Parts: sequence; structure tokens; C-alpha cells
Amino acid sequence: MSPNLDELLSAAQADIAAAADARALDALRVDLLGKKGRVTEMLKSLGGMVPDERKVFGEQVNRVRDALNAALDARGNTLAGVALQARLASETIDVTLPGRGIGVGGLHPITRTIQRISGLFNELGFETVEGPEIEDDFHNFQALNIPESHPARAMQDTFYLKDGARLLRTHTSPVQIRTMLARKAPIRIICPGRVYRVDYDRTHSPMFHQIEGLYIAEKVSLADLKYDITTFLSRFFERDVEALFRPSYFPFVEPGADVHIKWEDPEKGTRWLEVMGCGMVHPNVLKAVGIDPEQFSGYAFGMGVERMAMLRYGVSDLRDFFTNDLRFLAQFQ
Ligand code: FA5
Ligand code: MG
Repeated sequence: MSPNLDELLSAAQADIAAAADARALDALRVDLLGKKGRVTEMLKSLGGMVPDERKVFGEQVNRVRDALNAALDARGNTLAGVALQARLASETIDVTLPGRGIGVGGLHPITRTIQRISGLFNELGFETVEGPEIEDDFHNFQALNIPESHPARAMQDTFYLKDGARLLRTHTSPVQIRTMLARKAPIRIICPGRVYRVDYDRTHSPMFHQIEGLYIAEKVSLADLKYDITTFLSRFFERDVEALFRPSYFPFVEPGADVHIKWEDPEKGTRWLEVMGCGMVHPNVLKAVGIDPEQFSGYAFGMGVERMAMLRYGVSDLRDFFTNDLRFLAQFQ
């Protein structure tokens, strides 16, 4: 090989071996073998040579070109390996670090309260039943002895759907009606669920939960109602509860009462908080669902779940249950 070619090859091989990264290597490839590279130019010059000279020189330049290609590829592979090792080293996962943890979720205090109340009534022989949140006038009002234009409708400010016929149930009492229409007496059920009213302050929210209770059998009396409710209340609060049965009007019961419980309001001191309405099922309601009021009687109640949770947990603003502040909710886990 000509001394010039020899020199070029060994100098280029040294440069290639010293190339620090892929970019430097690429620059060398262009300088040597690119369109205007030094070796490429030599190959171009072959055209101006006499045949014998061209044959000898051509072979030599081709060999140099092949050797350089091999050197460039080898260095390229080495550099890629080095880069991979660096990435592996910098991106390793330290499996000995403690996990970040996704936290253990918990049940919402209202859900827990519903489960607790339902469980206590199930023990007393009440079966849990559910009903739709979108109701019609018949089940929410009429069958409950609340005819159209009856002033009692104003007691529960109602959200109506656009069609004007359907509404968001204002209480769980329509589930009583659905159950009595579907089954024969005796009946002993509770119905937990969401209800809706145009209401908003510290003890009222537009969406809240009620648990309806209904017991229909022969000879059910007001004494059964009082006994079952007070038994339930003292079990729920795990103490002797001071409860007040204050006569109250609901068109679907006679007589009717509101049950109030003594409550230490952090802002207003001792007060009575109404937790449920109850009473003896009105004969008109029994007749409307085909139950003979001469043979059967029954009691019903509808309790506010948030109120029960407020009393049990000492919460002073019912709306805290629905703002979803985890610092508040986590306290109940
Ligand atoms: C009723 O809804 C009757 N259906 C209850 C009933 C059932 C009476 C069966 C007789 C026989 P009232 O509107 O009082 O009654 O509501 C019952 C309970 O729901 C109240 O005692 C209160 O604890 C709760 N409550 C009422 N409105 C709200 C509100 N906006 N936010 C939270 N709780 C409420
Ligand atoms: Mg009331």
C-alpha cells in the first residue's frame, strides 16, 4: 500500500478509536466516507488513471474503505453499549426503598351509618328493600294520602324533572307504597336511600339520606312503635338516649310524631334535633294499597341518616359530609 494511504488509514483508525460519542463518530464518517470525504475523493480520482495504475490503487483504496467502515461500525457498537450501561446505571430502581403506598380507602361515614342502622334493624327482623330515586306523583304523594294541592306538599320542597310528571323522591316513603302493592301483609322492612329537597343550611342539605321503616301485621300498636324506636336508638348510640316523641302531622299516619334527640350543639348549646318522623299508618294508605285496615295495622318511620351520623360523631355542620375533604372523612376510619 502507498505510504500515504497507510498513514491515512492508521491516523483515521486512531481517531475512530478515540471518538467520544456517536456525534464525533458521525463527523469522522462524513469526513472520510461522506460524499466529499477524503476516501471518496480518492475513489473519484481513479477515473483519470491509466488502467494498470487504476487497478493497483483501486484495490488499495477499496481495502482502506472497507477497513474504515469496519472500524466505524465497531466503535459505534462500543459507544452504544456504553450509553446503554450509563442509562441502566442512572435509571435503576432501588427495590429496597419503601413503597409509596396508595393508601387504604375507607367507607364514607354516611355509608357506615346506613350499614349500622340497617344491621340493627335486620337483627330486629326487618328486611332491607330499595326503591327508585326518580319517582312519580302517585308513589311520592298521592298514595301517601297527599292529594294534589294539599298544603302538606309544601312541607317538602320538590325537585321536578323537565317533563313535570316525574320528580326526585322527597322521602323514602314511596318505597312503603311499592312494597305494600307488591306483597301481602305481614310486612316488616327498612328502605335506606338518597332523597332530595330544596333545602340548604347547617342541618339541611338538598341531597340527604333517609331510612324508612314499615311494620304491618295484626295488632301492631303505638306501644310497639315507641318500644322499637327507643330500643333501636339506645343500641345505635350505645347509651340511654333522651328521646322526645312530639306529636306531628304527616298525612300518611295517624297519630304521627317527630322524634327529637338531645344534642350538644357546639355553637348553640343544648338543643333538640329532629331525627325522624313516625306514626301509625293511616287507614287511607292501607286501603289505597289493598290492605284491610280492619284486619291489619302498622307503624312507619322515616329517619334522617345525616342527623343520626351528626349525633353519633359530634359533627356540627351536616354539609361537611358532602364537601369530600379527606381530612374530615379520614377521621371516621
Ligand atoms: C318525612 O320525610 C316522612 N316521610 C317521615 C315519615 C315516614 C313520617 C313514615 C311518618 C311515617 P320529614 O320531612 O320530617 O319526614 O323528614 C324525616 C327526617 O329526615 C327528618 O326528621 C330529618 O332527620 C331528615 N331531614 C329532613 N330534611 C332534611 C334535609 N334537608 N337534610 C338532612 N336531613 C333532613
Ligand atoms: Mg320533619
